[in-house]
Amino acid sequence: MKKNKFSVIVLIGVPGSGKGTQAAFICDRYGYGHISTGDLLRALEATPAAPPDDLLMLAAMKEGKLVPDALIYKLAFQAIETFFREGHGVVLDGAIRTVEQAEEYGKFFAEHGKEDQVIALEIAISDESSLARLSKRKVCGTCKYILPPDSAGRYECPKCGNALATRADDDPTVIKARIERQGNKSVAPIIEYYRSCGRLISVDGEQSVDRVSEDIASALDVM
Ligand code: AP5
Repeated sequence: MKKNKFSVIVLIGVPGSGKGTQAAFICDRYGYGHISTGDLLRALEATPAAPPDDLLMLAAMKEGKLVPDALIYKLAFQAIETFFREGHGVVLDGAIRTVEQAEEYGKFFAEHGKEDQVIALEIAISDESSLARLSKRKVCGTCKYILPPDSAGRYECPKCGNALATRADDDPTVIKARIERQGNKSVAPIIEYYRSCGRLISVDGEQSVDRVSEDIASALDVM
């Protein structure tokens, strides 16, 4: 297992930029815990006994909008604390999408003595590439594995053998809404926030999956 000095890696990028794909790579290589707020929200949706007020807040997700901050903090902070208690760092996949969220997480990291161990990693792609990728994405309905881009014609998960599924928000109308609301225009202020804090590294996400992983490893291994 490789080491670096960060306890928290914040992945930032438009929908479909490869946050989930590269989070899996980073967690394997460095032993981090993977926290995807999208996955936490989808798990909540699938929990019949979930608090009704929380379920109501999920309506925004179905429309391609951001869900209320209160629900994000409740789910993410609890998951992060679990990994910290076990002595693990975390990769935050989509957990920070506004400057307000970045500031709130900043307070949370400071309370845990981790403020100097945070790095933001931008995976940069165009909104056009986002649309093209999300329209073709396949995920496993059971283990949630994200299939690599060249998976046309596959109907079973290469990891667990179960059936593939299409995410509910990969419907064409919702994809369009997600890119309008969560595309590069809305990501830019978060990038600027971390750049101004001196806590940003950027990789070109338009390259192949392996080349993006190599660039991430090169950047993190020297730190
Ligand atoms: P979430 O599940 O996080 O969705 P997202 O941000 O839209 O990102 P995606 O998971 O769609 O894409 P990704 O960047 O992980 O790309 P992936 O690796 O899958 O969030 C869902 C919703 O939850 C949000 O819309 C919002 O409503 C809500 N939410 C979540 N967090 C929130 C927060 N903090 N605040 C408020 N609301 C929140 O790759 C995509 C495809 O591209 C795959 O097919 C993959 O194989 C392919 N691919 C990956 N890399 C490459 C490459 N280099 N070249 C070619 N293809 C590639």
